[in-house]
Amino acid sequence: MNTWLITGASSGIGASLARLVARQGATVYLAARREQELAAVAADVTAAGGTAVMFPCDLQRADSTEQLVRDVIERGVPDVVIHNAGRGNCASIEDTTDDQWQAMMTLNVESIFRITRGLLPAFRARNSGTFVMISSVAGRMAFPFNAAYVTAKHAVIGFTAALRTECAGTNIHATAVCPAGVLTPWAAVTEGGSIGEIFGGGIPRSRAYAHELGTELAPLTPMMEADDVARIIMDTVAAGRSNDVYTHPGTHEQAVLAAENRMALEDMFLPLYLGMRDAYAERSSS
Ligand SMILES: NC(=O)c1ccc[n+]([C@@H]2O[C@H](COP(=O)([O-])OP(=O)(O)OC[C@H]3O[C@@H](n4cnc5c(N)ncnc54)[C@H](OP(=O)(O)O)[C@@H]3O)[C@@H](O)[C@H]2O)c1
Repeated sequence: MNTWLITGASSGIGASLARLVARQGATVYLAARREQELAAVAADVTAAGGTAVMFPCDLQRADSTEQLVRDVIERGVPDVVIHNAGRGNCASIEDTTDDQWQAMMTLNVESIFRITRGLLPAFRARNSGTFVMISSVAGRMAFPFNAAYVTAKHAVIGFTAALRTECAGTNIHATAVCPAGVLTPWAAVTEGGSIGEIFGGGIPRSRAYAHELGTELAPLTPMMEADDVARIIMDTVAAGRSNDVYTHPGTHEQAVLAAENRMALEDMFLPLYLGMRDAYAERSSS
């Protein structure tokens, strides 16, 4: 487990994980668009005792993703691939443009397919390797005003499950990791505006709705630090074969409820949905 390819390594969870595995002397392939940010993470990796190799690329472009695969194979097939690059969106279904929808699918899903397809033959040849897909709780349940992202993250879990069936009985593992809120730039850099603002505006409004409806507040789990999520990802890789991983307390139970009794889950979250609806409407009218 000494060579890791981490996509989306220029910030947030990916950067935290790169620094963490570097402490074990790993070689870390860092992939993302922003070269300056990648270079800063590469310097941290080197300082921590690892070896950094930068692979600037745009995973929203098929040609750039295919080039990344070729470059990575030429440099040396990694032991671990962390499919972490991703971006969210902020739009009601009616407001979602073709471009937004396509961008969510291309970056969050198609790039994972292309990289996995490109590296699988080498993994099979040596019968080892681990893929970790960073999905989201939004891969099992939904929140309003980011339908394209929710759809994409559900697809990531489906792709991971399909890959597992094709690698059954081998020493090649694939696991989906599903975080809830993590303190990274993610919520601010979503396409179509900040989904963080809609959550931030919706949560205080949800209190009045909970009071009016005579229900509890929606059971949102506290945000986590990227370093803590990175540690869970590292433990997931060390575990080998593993179930889907829910990083935040209570979110596994919510995912189970979404599968077994979606209406009950929706009732629990109703005050938040209504608060977010108001926050979205206010933003749209301003
Ligand atoms: N933060 C959360 O609350 C949360 C919750 C659940 C799941 N997640 C998932 O966790 C993963 C990591 O997100 P994060 O929270 O660490 O957010 P982040 O700090 O915004 O990191 C996103 C990473 O993806 C890269 N990326 C974005 N577009 C790219 C492109 N076109 N080509 C290549 N790389 C691209 C970014 O690099 P460049 O901009 O330099 O390209 C960056 O390194 C994502 O898949 C996200 O959906 C996050």
